[in-house]
Amino acid sequence: MHSGGASNGGTSGAGAIAGSGGSGGGSTPQCDTSWDSRPSKGDDLVLTPPMGWNSWNAFHENINERQIREVADLMVSAGLRDAGYIYLNLDDKWMDDDGRDGSGRLVGDSERFPSGMAALADYVHDLGLKFGLYGDRGTDTCAHYNANTPSESGSYGREMLDAETFASWGVDYLKYDNCAIAPGRDNDQAQEEDYRAMADALKASGRPIVFSICAWDAKPWMPEVGHLWRSTFDIGLCFAGCDEWYRNIDEIIDENDETVDWAGPGHWNDPDMMVVGNGLPYNEDVAHFSMWALMAAPIILGNDIRTMSDETHGILTNEEVIAVNQDPAGVQGSRVVDNGDQEVWMKPLCTVDGPEKAVVLLNRGGGTARISLSFDDIGIAGGATVRDLWAHEDLGEYTGSFETDVASHSVVMLKVVETER
Ligand code: GLA
Repeated sequence: MHSGGASNGGTSGAGAIAGSGGSGGGSTPQCDTSWDSRPSKGDDLVLTPPMGWNSWNAFHENINERQIREVADLMVSAGLRDAGYIYLNLDDKWMDDDGRDGSGRLVGDSERFPSGMAALADYVHDLGLKFGLYGDRGTDTCAHYNANTPSESGSYGREMLDAETFASWGVDYLKYDNCAIAPGRDNDQAQEEDYRAMADALKASGRPIVFSICAWDAKPWMPEVGHLWRSTFDIGLCFAGCDEWYRNIDEIIDENDETVDWAGPGHWNDPDMMVVGNGLPYNEDVAHFSMWALMAAPIILGNDIRTMSDETHGILTNEEVIAVNQDPAGVQGSRVVDNGDQEVWMKPLCTVDGPEKAVVLLNRGGGTARISLSFDDIGIAGGATVRDLWAHEDLGEYTGSFETDVASHSVVMLKVVETER
């Protein structure tokens, strides 16, 4: 259903009306983006949340050219590209440990990326995908800083040169991290300046490049400067209850819900990359994927897709759930009912106050619970049809409310359509 390029590449025009993003043949419903009052960035990039794959959650620092080409091949042969996942992004540790070249330009690690980054970008482009890289606003990237290499991998003070280099290689997406902050710049104002410097340099490069801010917290200037910005610290492989340095999925959901109003076409809250397929139980993977879809979050996969199970593949290619994420109105869904561990989340589809809503009934608790959805709470008066987006089943027409059992750490995800207004 999704032709990835169309929904992610940003080909639809800016303005109040956007196409459907592709819910199949027939007439194309027009969707309303006029609710979004934030000024346009002057580009048409990521008018729906970006979808793709990133190396970090799968491989961390252990990346190389052969493995990345295999991932690229699989994105096509496993149907991920055609499901909408068009960005293939390298994370940290693609740069040479020993530093820049003689003219101060960034270079790829010559052992792990012997053909160079431009050749890899060409390979990825030839498959109909887009190519992303990672950089840092400080003097070094996080991994190079931690390993204490002389890489000079950070872009501080070299933004124009690095943006030019990225553009010359054919980079389409830059994730820009927040480590090894230059002396005297560890404050809010300098942080904003540093991110603006790279945003401006990317614009000056003349190549449309998605700018993904990774500074572990949402700040008011970010929607203007970035196409997406991390709303939280790093995701961990834990749905709830782990007391570790990383963020649990249920903590991320809460934090990402604090800045709902900041999201819209071309500017998205980023609750971090996916961990679906990395070891959580099936129900938690489904809950994680459903919540990211409902929150209009970027869906950047973080599993080794060369070895993914059929179950994982099934989650990642659920067209009905992806359609919720890629809804052209671009409204971030939010929590509308909070009954302790049982919650109702809603994302309006196609327009802010229309008849169609995506709903997630979320049970964060330790046992199965009955969750009731009152239509009043999602702006529907009277009757509505209800469809289960994981069972792919129409459940019938209901008046006033709908209720169902939801297992522990699980969701039921629905599309609810008002029958008359
Ligand atoms: C930070 C980011 C992660 C990842 C690593 C790489 O922790 O938040 O997403 O990019 O750096 O070192």
